[in-house]
Amino acid sequence: MSKPKVLVARDDIPSAGLDLLRTKCELTIIPGASPTREEILRAIPGHDGFFLVGHHNINSDFLDMAGPSLKVISTMSAGYDHLDVPEIKRRGIKVGHTPVVLNAAVAEVAVMLLLNAARRAHEGRLLLEAGKTENKPQWLLGQDIRGSTVGIVGLGMIGLAIAKRLIPFEIGRFLYTGHSPKKAGDEIGAEFVSLDDLLERSDFVVVATPLTIETRGLFDDAAFGKMKKNAVFVNIARGGVVKTDALVKALKENKIFAAGLDVTDPEPLPTDHELLKLPNLEIVPHIGSATVKTRNDMAVVAAQNIINALENKPLVYPL
Ligand code: DGY
Repeated sequence: MSKPKVLVARDDIPSAGLDLLRTKCELTIIPGASPTREEILRAIPGHDGFFLVGHHNINSDFLDMAGPSLKVISTMSAGYDHLDVPEIKRRGIKVGHTPVVLNAAVAEVAVMLLLNAARRAHEGRLLLEAGKTENKPQWLLGQDIRGSTVGIVGLGMIGLAIAKRLIPFEIGRFLYTGHSPKKAGDEIGAEFVSLDDLLERSDFVVVATPLTIETRGLFDDAAFGKMKKNAVFVNIARGGVVKTDALVKALKENKIFAAGLDVTDPEPLPTDHELLKLPNLEIVPHIGSATVKTRNDMAVVAAQNIINALENKPLVYPL
């Protein structure tokens, strides 16, 4: 019997995932590391599965052009704001993603950004390079994490992983907001509050919520206006949760103390973007899950999702 056909969206997937897929499927691998949507659409007809990496928008148009053979789409990411999940499922196509295996790596980047932003690491480096260091008791003072109030917007698995990693820093209080109180909140002794309450009371605001219609542009002028002047804002979720202009303004006008971003809108950020000129911004280029082990694990889970779907078994992480 011939093996099912799977299209792999680029040729630089960790081999652990590809090797697993090859045991059960015939692979078409699109050459290059960043195929266009058109290249993918040209290649996809006749395939049973699609291994997706990158944030190509999988919507009704895409599915129409992909044709009727497609049985499963597996995105090598935890986030799935680029997928029209209801439409994919309505067409009887199974769909999976790769959460959980990246929780620790993303949480580590969140803590890194929070510490660096609180302690003005980027600004210090700039001053050092410019020969402008000063030996004064009031120079380059940062914010304490010990005893602070940390507000987490979205206490899902990643939000919880961040909180757990911050506990040893002797946080004074955890707040969180979302749709409803969660058991995880009780687990870390966190208080469930409204978004406004969280913004007004937190010294650190950490965004770990998915990008949805509700959260798009949630952090606007009004939101930054409610935050404390000493507040440090961290976003490891999706850039679209923040109105970038509002954040630039808040940082420039020192409405908040500093920010740390793994994600931005737009992404990638143009090299001449305002954000890159701000001394009180720590920024990395969406590397939350970028460790050797985590990316291997993501590739394996994404491959297993496809194999399970094609064998009519439950996906490891279905959507
Ligand atoms: C994820 O897995 O969602 C990461 O943000 C990479 O897209």
